[in-house]
Amino acid sequence: MITIDAHYCNVILTEHFNTYTSLIGLMKLGIALTDPHDWTAAALLEAAVKRDFETYLIDLRHIEVVIKEDVAISYQGLILPTLDVVVVRDVGAGPMEGVSLRFDLLRQLEMQGTLVLNSPEAIRNAANKYHTTYMLSKAGIPVPATFSVQDRDKAIEIINELRDAVVKPVFGYKGKDIIRVRDGNMLEPDGTISQVPWQEQITQMISSRGMLYIQEFIENRGRDIRAFVVNGKVLGSIYRSAREGHWINNLSQGGTSSPCSLTSSQEKICAKAAEAVGTVFAGVDLIEGPNGMMVLEVNGTPSGEGIFNSCRVNVAEHILDYIYLISHL
Ligand SMILES: Nc1ncnc2c1ncn2[C@@H]1O[C@H](COP(=O)(O)OP(=O)(O)O)[C@@H](O)[C@H]1O
Ligand SMILES: [Mg+2]
Repeated sequence: MITIDAHYCNVILTEHFNTYTSLIGLMKLGIALTDPHDWTAAALLEAAVKRDFETYLIDLRHIEVVIKEDVAISYQGLILPTLDVVVVRDVGAGPMEGVSLRFDLLRQLEMQGTLVLNSPEAIRNAANKYHTTYMLSKAGIPVPATFSVQDRDKAIEIINELRDAVVKPVFGYKGKDIIRVRDGNMLEPDGTISQVPWQEQITQMISSRGMLYIQEFIENRGRDIRAFVVNGKVLGSIYRSAREGHWINNLSQGGTSSPCSLTSSQEKICAKAAEAVGTVFAGVDLIEGPNGMMVLEVNGTPSGEGIFNSCRVNVAEHILDYIYLISHL
């Protein structure tokens, strides 16, 4: 496994500029990442180099655009539309205008003929939990009862009626900033009762966000499932079990992983969920409720590390195989 660090990025880039840019016939592939220590980006790089792709590491946060008579989109001197493919591992967080620019740049690369995976549209669909749930539901995929409201009193009424509800940031990730209100009490991630009155929290959240995304809490066995889909196939799935007493299962919140095997009808749900939001590769989060499997969300820039550690499946190899296949059709 190649470990990427800032130094290595430079070595790769310099190496390519000096040595490989004149090679003809190889595909030029960019990997968009922000964390130089990211396992998945390293796995993608290794898989790309193995296939003799001319590979560049790109940090979308440092792309520059000059619009004069023509448009030049570049990263450290590399003219990005010369790339055949960009695999997006990470768009990068931060203020809205910066994130929006990065999505615009990815769309513009697409317009200029670069294959962007996942497509910026799919990444945007998946990043928005409300829109994802809408698309999943429209595609006939089971999802928890979900409410998007812009009015405080309505939010309070819905939470009271549900009796056990979660409120999640629409653009949230890694299990962060989710609150749960059960029978009139707000629960901390470790299951203890919060001292903050939940109505106060709701009032504050709705005034800062302008809307709330509320979902019925699905009773479960202290675990959920992450399935990794590439090109319509589930390559591996893992249970993520929360710490004792906790109710958020994300690995980044201290959950632990173990291999899981899905039935073929559950695998079909995952493939359909990935397709519904337009992703070629996706991490699909599922929860087993009393009435069967439901999809919580689809991740359009998923990590492959958990699946590799538990199932020994390297999703990067499959993503690169897919790219090789479609570019040779
Ligand atoms: N409706 C729900 N019912 C039960 N648990 C939930 C529900 N929604 C979220 N969770 C818990 O919170 C975790 C994070 O939610 P998720 O929707 O996947 O957002 P994130 O993008 O933060 O991972 C889930 O993995 C699950 O453990
Ligand atoms: Mg999740």
